[in-house]
Amino acid sequence: MPNTVIIGAQWGDEGKGKIVDMLSQASDIIVRFQGGNNAGHTINVSGKQTILHLIPSGILNPKTLCLIGNGVVLDPWVFLTEVEQLKASGVDVSAKRLGISYKTQLILPYHKALDQAREAHKSANKIGTTGRGIGPCYEDKVARIGLRAGDLTDPELVLAKVTCALEEKNVLFANLYGAKTLDPKVVTEEILQIAPRIIPYLTDVEAKISADQDKTILFEGAQGTHLDIDHGTYPFVTSSNTVSPNAATGSGVGPKCLDQVLGIVKAYTTRVGAGAFPTELTDLDGEHLQKHGHEFGATTGRPRRCGWLDAVILRASARLNGLTSIALTKVDVLQNLPMLKICTAYKYRGETLQYPPQFEGSLADVTPVYEDWPGFTHDISGCLKYNDLPETVRKYIERLEHLIDVPIKYVSVGPDREQTIVR
Ligand code: GDP
Ligand code: IMO
Ligand code: MG
Repeated sequence: MPNTVIIGAQWGDEGKGKIVDMLSQASDIIVRFQGGNNAGHTINVSGKQTILHLIPSGILNPKTLCLIGNGVVLDPWVFLTEVEQLKASGVDVSAKRLGISYKTQLILPYHKALDQAREAHKSANKIGTTGRGIGPCYEDKVARIGLRAGDLTDPELVLAKVTCALEEKNVLFANLYGAKTLDPKVVTEEILQIAPRIIPYLTDVEAKISADQDKTILFEGAQGTHLDIDHGTYPFVTSSNTVSPNAATGSGVGPKCLDQVLGIVKAYTTRVGAGAFPTELTDLDGEHLQKHGHEFGATTGRPRRCGWLDAVILRASARLNGLTSIALTKVDVLQNLPMLKICTAYKYRGETLQYPPQFEGSLADVTPVYEDWPGFTHDISGCLKYNDLPETVRKYIERLEHLIDVPIKYVSVGPDREQTIVR
């Protein structure tokens, strides 16, 4: 089987967890390659819900090896909590089937404190981060002062790195943010206390992936294309590259290893946190999507902003990720809406655009051009085959396929693993 990169094609929460779990049944290795526990990936198997923030969404399939790549920022305390929760549900989370790259950057208490202090300090233009320390951890990585998982085996190195990182941060905490300063020795002690529980998971991820060419690998993206640090709605983005090429860098393989790219697309659009959202709805249709789609964040519980499907941002996603196919999720949530709309283009400064404009902030100034589609009242959550779907739904799907020129291979009609139509 070819290797597949799975990425969110919108602003996150498209249903990546569900699709990764489903496809991992026919895969050998699942790798997370970016992001951290800002992610919340939900899996439903036979009515039981599991939400994963760090551990790859293949973990419920006992035959898979789940790896956390170098591109991830890992909060070791959150990782251990997740391990304990899975263990309590009877999932095998031994180091035989779960590994962390030596090169994975660690999120430490001062990253979280800085993330939260910074957001609280801003009066305008808050990003609305998850407050999990993601940005500050990536900053330390790029500043070349980050603590990596492999460093946990060397207590002196831990102390030296923590001392160095806190030298600057304590100045900010004390003098800019009016926050508590942190003692490097205390932080080091906290880290070294849990280090023995992390060390057994350290592994050479790139060697594991490359070891056996016959193995099928799934690269599990987090967040979404338009939250990408370079290509997203900057500055209202996350701090990593969420697009598919980063699957190679973030796990330590060459690009030839990435055979196909599956984009996960929600049948409407949602966004958590601040930033432009051209098709956002603040009316009854928006309420319908939020209520019936249970659109509340799997990580922070915040209500997600909801809006119509936007083919313009999806065209950009197809291009940025090299999408080879799409899984369209949450189509069932559209049931009983009187009318469906798809944004097919933007009006911007007198022009009609097929792709988002490039200037910072310009997405806030576009006017969506909509196409109307009839709604449907039929309950589709039990449909098993494409032809079981009402014609109106199939037409809507095929229109989207045409607008973004990428085949829609999977149609998801409910949260459960089984509620997926393969075309
Ligand atoms: P992720 O971050 O991309 O993995 O997505 P989340 O787990 O944050 O959010 C997706 C939500 O939609 C979860 O609660 C899923 O259980 C749910 N979900 C996924 N696919 C479907 C679907 O086809 N229909 C419905 N009704 N819910 C779905
Ligand atoms: P999954 O993987 C949706 C958003 C935050 C905020 C911005 C920056 O579940 O799809 P950060 O904490 O990363 O610095 O926050 O990014 N964000 C997400 N939105 N789904 C996610 O992950 C997200 N991870 C981060 O809401 O707007
Ligand atoms: Mg999510």
